[in-house]
Amino acid sequence: MGKFYITTPIYYPSDKLHIGHAYCTTVADALARYHRLKGDDTFFLTGSDEHGLKIQRKAAEKGVTPIQYVDAIIANFKLLWKELNISNDDFIRTSEERHHKVVQDALQKIYDQGDIYKKNYEGLYCVPCESYWLERQLDEKGCCPDCHRPVEKMQEESYFFKMSKYADWWLDFIDKNPDFIQPESRRNEMINFVKQGLDDLCITRTTFDWGIPVPFDPRHVVYVWFDALLNYLTGIKYGVDDAFFNRFWPADLHLVGKEIVRFHSIIWPIMLHAMGVEMPKKVYGHGWLVVDGTKMSKSLGNVIDPLGLIDEFGSDAIRYFLLREINLGHDGNFSRDALIQRTNADLANDLGNLLNRTVAMIIKYHGGAVRNAKAGDALDEDLIRVAADTVADYTAKMDAMDITSAVKTVWNLIGRANKYIDETAPWVLAKDEAKKERLETVMYNLAECLRLVAIMVEPYIPQAAPKIFAQLGLGETPLRLQDARWGGLAEGTRVVKGEPLYPRIEVDKDGNTIIGGKKYVPTVPV
Ligand code: ME8
Ligand code: MG
Repeated sequence: MGKFYITTPIYYPSDKLHIGHAYCTTVADALARYHRLKGDDTFFLTGSDEHGLKIQRKAAEKGVTPIQYVDAIIANFKLLWKELNISNDDFIRTSEERHHKVVQDALQKIYDQGDIYKKNYEGLYCVPCESYWLERQLDEKGCCPDCHRPVEKMQEESYFFKMSKYADWWLDFIDKNPDFIQPESRRNEMINFVKQGLDDLCITRTTFDWGIPVPFDPRHVVYVWFDALLNYLTGIKYGVDDAFFNRFWPADLHLVGKEIVRFHSIIWPIMLHAMGVEMPKKVYGHGWLVVDGTKMSKSLGNVIDPLGLIDEFGSDAIRYFLLREINLGHDGNFSRDALIQRTNADLANDLGNLLNRTVAMIIKYHGGAVRNAKAGDALDEDLIRVAADTVADYTAKMDAMDITSAVKTVWNLIGRANKYIDETAPWVLAKDEAKKERLETVMYNLAECLRLVAIMVEPYIPQAAPKIFAQLGLGETPLRLQDARWGGLAEGTRVVKGEPLYPRIEVDKDGNTIIGGKKYVPTVPV
């Protein structure tokens, strides 16, 4: 057993949540749940990135204070995480006092050691991305190279962090730690970026005040990215509780979207190095959820509301789709049709029916009690071998963060178990008194397969996993990966008939969603 500290980016308070927001957090949640399943001492942090000019302007437009503006939005984010069954251990808001202290102490330390200086600055600033750009970095239209919106010329007296001084250290660190930035394509991109020369980073602003005051010059507030990155330390009580901090630091994984790998893999390690803090283990840049090839974003008007989607299809279905359909590290397409198709095929049919049929047959043939398995034949041996291979393969794939392949391997076992029902034809065995023991063995093997499946799918579909256990008569038993070994199901365990895990979804000729034969009526505002 080890430890696992995983973070998502802290989100900008966006007044329009979209399913893209849910992606990173769902992936992080699956990994956090997997590590808990393994017994690792796990800490999963997410939160909100609340300061900056963008927020101050939006609040002013609405005639409210910045904190009033963000409070309402953050409540909505927290609701989304709850509805999606996100198991974060803490939610850090950069507006919190505990965070201000960490940022001010870090800044003071770096200032005292001479790594911060003041200069008059004129730069091109992208307000939506809260990023400064150089002329040569702009896109062909002279706009922000990330979001392609216009940049603004900003002129002010600012403090600068001597990043350039650490470029060689960084190149050496990346060279010695080839796994630090993943996937590899991102790593090469970052190395090329730094090899072109690293500029010092402007880390304070004076033209607005919605931010953390600079301790040595309170007319300035801290630049949002310098502020935001430090949340990963605040969240595990840096400078407050050393024992707690040392239990989880260094972070095992900073999971982030590909457009912010630069901040996490260049600026963040250099900040930590300047502070004398140990390096995190890994920064992983995931791809985007796209609609017709375009990143989903509020400004493009192509957003899909995740709360509405959860209300309609349930959180397991959304989670399963994101994890199964989008290869981590690559962009992936979101569509309702594909979501419905996946839910019906994999969840309702493959998994749901396997459970339903197994429980129904154990009730019908054996009064609901699991009997002992006897020495098996070749069919049984094959099933047992596939099950054991699946657990090993699943573990290797999840450890390597190849979530999509891990999901596929579990569904391969589910498919094998369904085929085993057809091959063994229990309804035929049931008619033959001489096949009594054979039928008991077949039923045991099916229930045992489902027990292993329930454990492995918990990180993906955390609502269904305990329901499968409950139907298998294991309602009180915790889900643990160490129990995913063949033969653990005890004779005499009594299955319990339950609701179908996932009702079938259909769309009628008028475009209405029909769920389990009933027309879907939204219970959240649309
Ligand atoms: O960048 N598909 O916040 P953010 C996949 N506050 N991921 C998406 C996405 C999409 N369509 N849209 C957004 C910030 N994301 C900073 C982070 S961390 C110290 C500060 C992901 O709200 C995006 O890639 O713009 C990023 O990882 C996360 O949502 C937060 O984005
Ligand atoms: Mg963004």
